[in-house]
Amino acid sequence: MTARPLHVVGARPNFMKAAPVVAASARLGLDPMLVHTGQHYDRRMSEIFFDQLGLPEPDLNLGVGSGSHATQTAALMSALERTMLDAKPSQVVVYGDVNSTMAAALVAAKLLVPVAHVEAGLRSFDRTMPEEINRVVTDRVADMLFAPSDDAVAHLRNEGVEERRIHLVGNSMIDTLVRFRDRLDPNGTRRALGLPDRWGVVTLHRPGNVDDPARATAIVASLAQLASRLALVVPLHPRGRDLLAGAGLLDTPGIAVVDPLGYVDFMSLMAGAALVVTDSGGIQEETSILGIPCLTVRPNTERPITVTAGTNRLVEPAEIASAAAEALAAAWSPAAIALWDGAAGERIAAILAAISSP
Ligand code: UD1
Repeated sequence: MTARPLHVVGARPNFMKAAPVVAASARLGLDPMLVHTGQHYDRRMSEIFFDQLGLPEPDLNLGVGSGSHATQTAALMSALERTMLDAKPSQVVVYGDVNSTMAAALVAAKLLVPVAHVEAGLRSFDRTMPEEINRVVTDRVADMLFAPSDDAVAHLRNEGVEERRIHLVGNSMIDTLVRFRDRLDPNGTRRALGLPDRWGVVTLHRPGNVDDPARATAIVASLAQLASRLALVVPLHPRGRDLLAGAGLLDTPGIAVVDPLGYVDFMSLMAGAALVVTDSGGIQEETSILGIPCLTVRPNTERPITVTAGTNRLVEPAEIASAAAEALAAAWSPAAIALWDGAAGERIAAILAAISSP
């Protein structure tokens, strides 16, 4: 019987990590099944990525939607349990650190279905981040842990994960960037958004930044300072829009706030940018490979390799404008990180296939 891994995705950052693994699994004859939990549901947060990345239509969309952490996680778990009981997958493959990831891992583990975690071992050691809880819990119950980098492997070893379960495979999100790199069109996107020749990109959506009025106000004030020297474009995540708007983001000269962009437009915008200011996890990695300076508005990162590689710097809100001035005055080139080479999906699928075969 053909092994039938069930890949679970739910939120925007899952899609670019899963696409290369699902495609490589199909090439190896694994007959993958794809379930979308519906954690993200707006077209610009979800469907556009399926279209652009060539992800197959999900076999099922559970339509779970938004809610408090407990409400959303409970709804995810109930729906995923029914799905797994029906589908009887050979393995469940989960991605990253969103609530859908942890919910799927817990359900599968309790149904005794082997769990594979893509992007295992990342740690910010900051339990105030919901994603850190999701990472720790998912890795604790996973049977196969696909680590993107050496630091992630070291964390798993320190936590006592058996060596045979840990696989250093690289970064499947970077596979997607490598695949699309030649198709990026920074100038076309710049013209479409009416930007000048030189611009910076800003993304903000972390609860730690956008749910706290004092911090959101401090960030907007620093961005206003920076915008007097560099045009900024902010593709804004729906979370926190009201609070950031209240802090004046939409009315600041030099800052263009736009709706969330699809993968190709967003990566095009970033590939041509002089600078990126963000609180995203994945963007810290993508800027490293693109060779764009990245200021991460967070006290810590689960991706310290992007800091040691040189392109990423952690900043407090008040430091944004001065750190940006330093970054803009320096020369930048892409970082070389072992196994972030466009072939992580192939490596993961090969391991899934080897474990699935009798
Ligand atoms: C989730 C992930 C986060 C990831 C982010 C990427 C968790 C705990 N968080 O955060 O790690 O970086 O996705 O985008 O899983 N909303 C919409 N439309 C949508 C989806 C969400 O309007 O399609 C709004 C709703 O108001 C919702 C809020 O965004 O309540 C938060 O959505 P949720 O899925 O809970 O978390 P994110 O902040 O998107």
